[in-house]
This record gives sequence, structure tokens and C-alpha cells, in this order.
Amino acid sequence: MASTEDKPANKENASSWKDSIYNPRTGELLGRTASSWALILLFYLVFYCFLAGMFALTMWVMLLTLDDYVPRYRDRVPSPGLVIRPNTMEITFSKSDTKYNGYVSQLESFLQRYNDTLQEQNVQDCVKGQYFLQDDVEEKKVCSFKRGLLKACSGYSDSSFGYADGQPCILLKLNRIIGLMPRGEPYINCTVKVNFSMQMAYYPDEGRIDKKYFPYYGKKAHENYVQPLVAVKLLLEKDHMNKEHSVECRVDGTNLRNNDERDKWLGRVSFKVKVME
Ligand SMILES: *[C@@H]1O[C@H](CO)[C@@H](O)[C@H](O)[C@H]1NC(C)=O
Ligand SMILES: *[C@@H]1O[C@H](CO)[C@@H](O)[C@H](O)[C@H]1NC(C)=O
Ligand SMILES: *[C@@H]1O[C@H](CO)[C@@H](O)[C@H](O)[C@H]1NC(C)=O
Repeated sequence: MASTEDKPANKENASSWKDSIYNPRTGELLGRTASSWALILLFYLVFYCFLAGMFALTMWVMLLTLDDYVPRYRDRVPSPGLVIRPNTMEITFSKSDTKYNGYVSQLESFLQRYNDTLQEQNVQDCVKGQYFLQDDVEEKKVCSFKRGLLKACSGYSDSSFGYADGQPCILLKLNRIIGLMPRGEPYINCTVKVNFSMQMAYYPDEGRIDKKYFPYYGKKAHENYVQPLVAVKLLLEKDHMNKEHSVECRVDGTNLRNNDERDKWLGRVSFKVKVME
């Protein structure tokens, strides 16, 4: 019968299976002697050390060829995004709330870097309308942008930035892009979709972005660089109160892209404003 023949075979199988893990007669572990295992471990140790060494060497050689001051691969300078402060897509506040949803303190702290006294230390006499090229100098100088240029939106004459009157200031800036040199005469143009036309005031005049603030040379070389700002003050009147208004701002008058269908933040920004009485 098959079953009686199978039994001793099974026993033998079980012991040889145990032996295959550890065989006390030959001292083999998983079919190999201790010295054989030691050789294998040694081989892998040397092999992986070699791989790690190769990796470190190529990394080191590559890092040697990098320059801290200039990004290496830059075939085309991209177009910058446009962003606003206060940093929100829906500016909603009540004229009577003295905190104005934190917007005013946000603007105030954002403008600390543009403090007139602080900006006195930067270059005052950059030529208007011309790029501030410093390709040959290692430590790049910074063209001064004093917040005083924003006049009614500087926070100096009106510490509520117009929020107390329901005529809020919104600050706009282009994202930093190393080497960007916009052509033409860049300016910010905002439009509001409303029934009753809404007036706006721009600071500096006509929402101009002076070319003297370009190019930017990167964080390390151009340490205290400040982006030029444009403030737009929405002159809401009684009819505009308690309603939501959609505002769109674009950078115009230049080669920078502002109507990309796939990226609606390139050179433009949309936000909503609602002021409660
Ligand atoms: C900013 O300027 C004001 C005066 O204009 C000064 O009182 C204040 O200390 C300055 N802040 C910084 C951070 O420099
Ligand atoms: C601003 O944009 C609007 C609509 O896009 C346009 O009609 C208007 O002429 C522009 N204003 C200026 C000064 O470019
Ligand atoms: C626009 O004005 C008309 C009348 O002047 C008014 O009926 C309508 O509700 C207003 N629309 C909005 C969105 O305020």
C-alpha cells in the first residue's frame, strides 16, 4: 500500500528538511559552511562599498561643476506669476471691524522690508527705465524700493491702508525669477466686473513697474533684493458696499505672458472683494 511506504519516506523528508536549515553533522547552515557564508558576506561588503564609493565620486565631481551664484540649466527664462497681498483670494471685511480680518497687519509686516529707513541703505540712483545690470560684480547691489512710493497705500499716511474707509489697498508683485528682464514698459492693469463703474488708484503712477529692478540675480548673490510693488486702491462707493466684486489684474505693456489658458496665474491674478458697512 502506498500509505505504509510513504510514512518512513515522510520521516526522512522531515529530517532532511531540518538538515537543510542546519545540519549538525557537517555544520552547514542553509547548505553552506560558515567559511562559505563569510566569503559571501565579504564579497557583498566589498561590492556595496565600491558602489557607494562610485556614487560619492560622481556626486562630488558634479557638485564641483556647479556654481553657487548661477543656476546651471536655464535655456529659457520663464514668465512670472502675479501675486497679491493680503494673501487671500477673497478679501472680505467690515469697515467697522478694526482688525479688518488681519489684512492690515499682514500688509504692515509685509512692508517692513520696504521700510524707507531700511531702503536708504540700498542704491538710490539706479537709472529709471533701465535694467540694473551687474553681471561682472559678485555681490550684487539692490535698487531701493521705498514703501513711501506707494503713497496712500504705503501705510505711512493712512495706517489702515484705506480699509477703515472701505477703500482697500491691495499690493501686487511679480514672483522672483532669476535673470528675468521684461521688455517694453510693464504696468499693472486691474479691471472689476461691476454694474456701477469703480474707480481705482495705482501707486506708483499708472501702476508702472520700473525696469531698474531687473534682473534679479538669485538668493545668494542678490541677498537683500526687493521686488518692485504696485498698489491698487479700490475706490468703492456706497453702491459697491455689501456686494462681492471680482477683480482681475494683469501685467501689461510687456512681453511677459498674461493670458495663458493653462496657467491662470501667469502674469495675472483674480480675487474677490466684499466690503461690509
Ligand atoms: C520702519 O520705519 C519706521 C519709521 O519710518 C521706524 O520707526 C521703524 O523702526 C522701522 N522698522 C524697521 C524694522 O526698520
Ligand atoms: C486694461 O484692461 C482692460 C481690459 O482688459 C482694457 O480694456 C484696458 O484698455 C486696459 N487699460 C490699459 C491702460 O491698458
Ligand atoms: C445691476 O443694476 C441693476 C439696476 O441698475 C440691478 O437690477 C441689478 O441687480 C444689478 N446687478 C448686480 C449684480 O448688482
